[in-house]
Amino acid sequence: MTGSQANAVETLRWCGGYLEMIDQRVLPAQFRYLRYDSAEAVAQGIRDMVVRGAPAIGCAAAYGIALEALRRRDTSSSEFSGHLERAFSVLGASRPTAVNLFWALARMRTRWHSLASQLVPTQAQALLDEAHEIFAEDIRVNRAMGAHGAALLADGARVLTHCNAGALATAGHGTALGVIRSAVEAGKRVSVIADETRPFLQGARLTAWEMVQERIPVTLITDNMAGFLMTRGEIDAVIVGTDRVAANGDVANKIGTYMVAVLAHRHGIPFYVACPTSTIDMSIADGAAIPIEERAHAEVTGFRDYQWAAEGVQVRNPAFDVTPAELVSALITERGVVHQPNRERLADLMKLAAERP
Ligand code: MRU
Repeated sequence: MTGSQANAVETLRWCGGYLEMIDQRVLPAQFRYLRYDSAEAVAQGIRDMVVRGAPAIGCAAAYGIALEALRRRDTSSSEFSGHLERAFSVLGASRPTAVNLFWALARMRTRWHSLASQLVPTQAQALLDEAHEIFAEDIRVNRAMGAHGAALLADGARVLTHCNAGALATAGHGTALGVIRSAVEAGKRVSVIADETRPFLQGARLTAWEMVQERIPVTLITDNMAGFLMTRGEIDAVIVGTDRVAANGDVANKIGTYMVAVLAHRHGIPFYVACPTSTIDMSIADGAAIPIEERAHAEVTGFRDYQWAAEGVQVRNPAFDVTPAELVSALITERGVVHQPNRERLADLMKLAAERP
């Protein structure tokens, strides 16, 4: 990828005019890339969870727009516009909760509109350059977040994480796992307790795999074991990522995060959320207004081809929950750590981000 730093796991890569993405549905049993050539195909990849994790979804969507622009570069200006509008709408409908998707699409649209006077092939190339920049920026942001967050972890810290907020969920380095990586790079002996993360098992399949690859000590637990380990004093901190933070600091993240936050509060364990400012949605007043994706019942009644639940049972499958700001010890952003996040502190942070992009 253009402009990226060395990156152990290349979740997405630009290769010979195509987007390639690691197929996260089959990890860790298989490691394979799938190739994408259109916005429609990328949207399907996002829907199917080939790529997942808020920042990675945003990067994929940006490349989806670029792919569509490149394959339509020989059309007339009005045809090109029609194709791009369709691309924006199909990608925008792929998943509802992660705001990075809409953030990346808005940024691609702003860039596109700034190119209105240019020839179509020039517009297409500039959109690809913008997608590369979004990708490279994500790694820079994650590294900055990692540096701020690493300072919060003591040498020897045992850190619980939920879902996968690692390199696989971003362009590289990761958000929550990025903090852990940065702490390890700084010489701290940090170990990870990974919640398996029912029902899609991002913790068991992806976080455990990433940590094993890098020889960062990792212990896998089922989600319902976290409270027990806390009662035994075996967890020093919790760090998770997020899909969207509301203006008052409420945090949407993978289903089960709220449960962990309540437990951490009960046990006096710091609960940190690693969060690029692109994940903060100032247009949403509080967590109740964050759209929560409901996914297929088959994810709860079984796994892949195997069904263990009774045929005909009723099922709920909300993919995210909302942790109220009062349970969040700090948001770790690329611009620094916001302790006890609230409406005023987030407004100050975002004002700073707007003034000094
Ligand atoms: O459904 P997923 O796998 O896309 O959910 C991902 C998460 O909940 C992550 O914790 C979140 O996107 C932060 S990723 C840096």
